[in-house]
Amino acid sequence: MKITVVGAGAVGATTADNLVRRNIAEEIILLDIKEGFAEGKAQDMMQTSALLGFDSKIKGVTNDYLSTAGSEVAVITSGIPRKPGMTREELIGTNANIVKTVVDNLIKHSPDIIILIVSNPMDTMTYLALKSSGLPKNRIIGMGGALDSARFKYQLSDKLNASANDLNAIVIGGHGDTTMIPLIKHATWNSVAVTDFLNEDEQADIVKKTMVGGATLTALIGTSAWYAPGAAAAAMVESIVKDQNRLFTASVYLEGEYGQEDINIGVPVIINKKGWDKIVPMKLSAEEEELFKASADAVRKMNQVLFD
Ligand code: NAI
Repeated sequence: MKITVVGAGAVGATTADNLVRRNIAEEIILLDIKEGFAEGKAQDMMQTSALLGFDSKIKGVTNDYLSTAGSEVAVITSGIPRKPGMTREELIGTNANIVKTVVDNLIKHSPDIIILIVSNPMDTMTYLALKSSGLPKNRIIGMGGALDSARFKYQLSDKLNASANDLNAIVIGGHGDTTMIPLIKHATWNSVAVTDFLNEDEQADIVKKTMVGGATLTALIGTSAWYAPGAAAAAMVESIVKDQNRLFTASVYLEGEYGQEDINIGVPVIINKKGWDKIVPMKLSAEEEELFKASADAVRKMNQVLFD
């Protein structure tokens, strides 16, 4: 079984590193456009095999799509990341061309492939990948909500002094600083509502910190983050490859679900060997429904930059 990761930069290399350590694929192809870059990163990772004990092979290639032939899953991280002060949306033009070309090349050699889109602005890139490829909707998945939900759990665990593993909390909506919706009223600490422990101000503070989680890191590091994004992408790939039926928020194509049509946006879905399998319906409050609608409007506006 083969997995391809396109883009050997910060997020792509971290995704590949997480995947190779999991030992879930015979072969991982790491592809980048920059000559020798993916080859170097892949060799460095292979040299950890004797130390970490995995048997998966990882091979780096420069723009060689023939090597990706027969991939079951691909993760697309190619494109430019944001710099401090930039929004994810400002990356649209450059990344749209890259994502479209990469998707075309992947499908040529792996017609049954499932594609996970990471490049930003992710919801629009996922919609573009779906529309330009003509692949069945279940085989195009956007990664954003899995990361935002992990960041939400981090903020909750920090405030509650709780293990993040005991928290159940998800973020839905668009993958943007102002469009994501951390569902704090639904969050639990081992089945106990977190709102039992936090007053309204504390809840609002956690929601705010979650929403600017990526921007906070970009300001600190000077470019966007990679450890949690790479871990989130790898967890989703594992759920596909091992048919785990794990529930993640992912950007998927809606046809009436959550009151929206013809849009890719983050909702809870089951991830398994079919790609995304089922959209999980949630009972949202009137206020949450309003926020979701506003989020969808913002994502749709971004899509129009490419499609109008
Ligand atoms: P990076 O600059 O470290 O890596 C991007 C890599 O893509 C570079 O090595 C570049 O050579 C390569 N590349 C560019 N054009 C290519 C092409 N046509 N074919 C193959 N490779 C190509 O950037 P980083 O930090 O890895 O971020 C990658 C993307 O992921 C950005 O768009 C960023 O905004 C996004 N991102 C998305 C997240 C999410 O939750 N969806 C989280 C973090 C980053």
